[in-house]
Amino acid sequence: MIAIGSDHGGYELKKEIIKHLTERGLSYKDFGTDSTESCDYPVYGKAVANAVASGECEKGILICGTGIGISITANKIRGIRCALCHDCFSAEATRLHNNANILAMGGRVVGAGLALKIVDTFLDTPFSNDERHIRRISQMEE
Ligand code: RB5
Repeated sequence: MIAIGSDHGGYELKKEIIKHLTERGLSYKDFGTDSTESCDYPVYGKAVANAVASGECEKGILICGTGIGISITANKIRGIRCALCHDCFSAEATRLHNNANILAMGGRVVGAGLALKIVDTFLDTPFSNDERHIRRISQMEE
């Protein structure tokens, strides 16, 4: 199950991503927002991060205007490794090296075409399980 959420700045891109997840046959839980009406990104960043941290959802996707505020919010929740990615190289690397469990993007930064490739890269790349990366991730939690 993939947790997904956005503020108003990410709402249109979130709709595209949900359509894409549905086409891929992937299940998701949408934590809002439900329109382009102005709202506060921490509400949605926390909801998705808590769903991932609790184990309710395996991974998360967060979108705000830039992806910055919502990723900062998510990273304040213990156990969350939220990566702000606007290219496929970073999306692949953050899965391989950081075992990132949430992808953040900016709906005002990337177009839907690139965003969907980034989503696919993030969801389809497994963690490397390399000892050095496991060690570094453990150090984050100390
Ligand atoms: C909302 O205008 C905007 O500040 C928000 O979507 C995000 O970019 C914050 O980091």
